[in-house]
Amino acid sequence: MAKILVIKKKINSFKKEIEVSGDKSLSIRWVLLASQAIGKSRAYNLLMSEDVLAAIKAIRKLGIKVIARNSHYEIFGNGINSFKYKKGIIIDAKNSGTLGRLILGLLIKSPNKIKIIGDKSLSKRDFSRVTVPLKKFGAKFNYKVKNKLPLTILGSQTSKGINYIENKGSAQCKSSVMLAALNSSGTTYIKAKKSRNHSELLFKYLKVPIKIKKTKKYDFIEIKKPNKICAFNYNIPGDISSSAFFIVLTMLTKNSKLLIKNININPSRVGVITILKKMGAEIYLKNKRNYKGEKISNILIQSSKNLRGINCPSELNTSAIDEFLIIFIAAAKAKGISYFKDISELNQKESPRLNLGSKILNMMGVKTELTKNSIKIYGQPNLKITKQIIIKDYLKDHRIFMMSTIAALTCGGQWKIHDKDSINTSFPSFLKIVKNISGKSL
Ligand code: S3P
Repeated sequence: MAKILVIKKKINSFKKEIEVSGDKSLSIRWVLLASQAIGKSRAYNLLMSEDVLAAIKAIRKLGIKVIARNSHYEIFGNGINSFKYKKGIIIDAKNSGTLGRLILGLLIKSPNKIKIIGDKSLSKRDFSRVTVPLKKFGAKFNYKVKNKLPLTILGSQTSKGINYIENKGSAQCKSSVMLAALNSSGTTYIKAKKSRNHSELLFKYLKVPIKIKKTKKYDFIEIKKPNKICAFNYNIPGDISSSAFFIVLTMLTKNSKLLIKNININPSRVGVITILKKMGAEIYLKNKRNYKGEKISNILIQSSKNLRGINCPSELNTSAIDEFLIIFIAAAKAKGISYFKDISELNQKESPRLNLGSKILNMMGVKTELTKNSIKIYGQPNLKITKQIIIKDYLKDHRIFMMSTIAALTCGGQWKIHDKDSINTSFPSFLKIVKNISGKSL
């Protein structure tokens, strides 16, 4: 497969029905929690991306049997604190912040040192956000470069519940602590700024002793060690973060309509829909249903004729954290100025997304005003790109690749987008779906 994607033409109108692959957050959580359950757990529609495969490889290294069947995956857990592994093992979290941070919580009692490594992008990211609370449980860490991968963790046999305040709105930090709490004596008390709550919903479903009190900005969570977790089956719904690229593609293409089926619309994940609707998008949730505590629906999108800029309320930031890059493309084509504030966390992702997002908009001829934690985007409803745009050196951030592809298909210009295989991180079938929608191979 050529590594550079070349796009020279905008997409034509379409009317289609698609499905996107399984939710990444739920897929990784299923793998990690099934490894702690007793007996055979099955997952259907598990996301087959590099991040999830890295999670499977990680638990295999920790002595857990995993079988890939034709229609599903099976994990044979031996219970909480039952990992069995050789001395000196290395776990490669590859590009996945979720895996790198969550697995550390599961290793809170590891009797031997375990080394965690990651790819170039993950090795630039901050791990103090999880090592600080995990040290309070009793774990010890060693690094080459402080707070960065590669690091080693040595667990504590006497790990005890902690008090923890999570102030960034990071579900990875919250979940890492929750997983450590599963394996620690006493009670863990977490005060967490609102963020995606898949771990909480799974804990409830698995009958882990968990209490949650919600206030407007924070959730107060109490967790006690369960006696055991029973094996569980899960049918992973489609990923709203992957859907977001096709939602914006449809909005920005004339006379088009798209139905995306079976998507997880957990309220802590749908900031993208709220934001785009506030900008005037026509997005409808159809056939809403509940599944094991999660909400699922089909999403119907129609072309948007009158998109307007938004002064985006910061309360929506965590529920749209992975979707800002594609929201920026919608803002580039909206009437008026859009303002997104308190989003410095975007620069802590697989690449510095706030800075790179702004740079790509500028390359497209869109004016931005960028600070360390905000961006103003001067929208141009009639934006038509005629020049060549080359996207490279972006730490292979899958979402930069997909954002650029959608910009090319909706705004014109001649694009050369490097590192096509970056999509394998979260959405390997992205280009196949583009082909299905456009009727053309890219
Ligand atoms: C995730 C949490 C978010 C998100 C990431 C997946 C998760 O990260 O960006 O893609 O599954 O918990 P933060 O917790 O760092 O915000």
